[in-house]
Amino acid sequence: MAHSPPIPPSAAAVPPLRTIPGSYGWPVVGPIADRLNYFWFRGPEKFFRKRMEKYKSPVFRTNVPPTFPFFAGVNPNVVMVLDCKSYAHLFDTEIADKKDTLLGDFMPSVGFNGDLRMCAYQDVLEPKHAQIKKFIMAILKRGTKVWTTELKVNLDEMWTTLETDISSKGSATLFSPLQHCLLKLLLKSYVGADVSETAPDLAKSGPTIINTWFALQVRPTIAINVIQPLEEIFVHSFRYPSFLARPGYNKLANFIKTQGHDVVQLGVTEYGLTEEEAIHNLLFVLAFNSFEGFTLFIPKLLTRLLSDSTLQEKLRVEARQNGGTELTFTSFKQMPLIQSFVYETLRLEPPVPTQFARARKDFTLSSSEASYKVKKGELLCGYQPLVMRDPTIFDDPESFKPDRFLGEKGAELLNYLYWSNGPETGSASHSNKQCAGKEYVTVTGSLFVAHLLRRYDSISGEGSTIKAVEKAK
Ligand code: HEM
Repeated sequence: MAHSPPIPPSAAAVPPLRTIPGSYGWPVVGPIADRLNYFWFRGPEKFFRKRMEKYKSPVFRTNVPPTFPFFAGVNPNVVMVLDCKSYAHLFDTEIADKKDTLLGDFMPSVGFNGDLRMCAYQDVLEPKHAQIKKFIMAILKRGTKVWTTELKVNLDEMWTTLETDISSKGSATLFSPLQHCLLKLLLKSYVGADVSETAPDLAKSGPTIINTWFALQVRPTIAINVIQPLEEIFVHSFRYPSFLARPGYNKLANFIKTQGHDVVQLGVTEYGLTEEEAIHNLLFVLAFNSFEGFTLFIPKLLTRLLSDSTLQEKLRVEARQNGGTELTFTSFKQMPLIQSFVYETLRLEPPVPTQFARARKDFTLSSSEASYKVKKGELLCGYQPLVMRDPTIFDDPESFKPDRFLGEKGAELLNYLYWSNGPETGSASHSNKQCAGKEYVTVTGSLFVAHLLRRYDSISGEGSTIKAVEKAK
């Protein structure tokens, strides 16, 4: 079992015992009312914030979607943990059972993943979890050799496409060029294959295939802001069948099977996986964790840069003075302000906002103010955007402070930066559930920022739409 992560200083004494406030409401009616508030009337953040204020507690009972009428068997009841101290229980493998809790009590059909339960759905006590996680970490290590060079080549290509779009249309949107860049980077680094050369059709259609496959799995749990009540009726009311994604998914799985022979065999011979387990887990990590993770995260960095030209200039100076001539894995450490900017973006806009775990046994859960009895089998739910604004840990928590994580105080705060399902100071291992790609995410985010600031003397726009770029002279 892994050690528990550091807990906030105020945790030294056990705070007074309190009954968990909140209720699940009337059967059927309570969960439906909560679902409508969550998706329609308030949105997740306001939904949780209002309750936290109502109960004057970061720990309370509520329902989270998906719920009735067509999700029979899915129990929406959760105990929310919304400050740093209570949320940290989710990382304690003595208490937190993560079996099939990636999306709460709801789990998409295993038909999406070759009829197998992927690593992210397995608890640390399941022997397969350690085998697969070690395999994934070995794939990443192998890919390190090419990661930064491939990243640079593909980012250059992506920016050239964006520049062409700006000259022809007056503006360009990051989304599609970024996804093509990511697909090529990930297939080269994890599978060792150049998809543009070996399967040009797949290079073109890959992003749409992955987006469709991903959306069909997660949509019942995520707001997409189309016109209501259409979203509630058509998007949040039923499970999507996996056959809808299968033709595209099979193309990607076959690509890995034929082009990734060496890496698949590594899984079989070194980690005791079957060929099918190696292929489907590799595809899940590539498509679900990495491709969709970076698709959510990288645009947030760009949006922050576009929104503040003074900050952009400050970071540009650092990117040009530090980090070496070629950007590498170690450049990250030589650009502390960019590093801190990346951490602050992850703090305020964690790309995977919600985490769950089931109580393995009866235990006492502590928040910064009180302690609560939790029963074995109850589902804990953390919502990071609020946890990462815990005023007992972060000064002026609502403000974006790009230099927050600098210096000794900043280093201490990294103990409470939880975007990766564990503290930023922790490390992923086969005996915990921390994100296997944690280091790659922060390094890649920093290199994305440094690369663009070195390439352009100025870049302007809004959100992830770029209106003008001025190339470095
Ligand atoms: C911005 C990108 C990413 C974000 C925000 C992110 C975030 C997370 C989070 C929050 C979890 C925990 C989920 C849970 O249990 O509730 C997780 C798990 C995981 N992530 Fe990432 N991740 C990202 C990229 C990656 C990459 C590049 C990899 C590549 C290896 C990766 C591999 C994994 C794996 C294998 C797990 C499951 C760990 C386990 O079961 O022990 N992730 N990630």
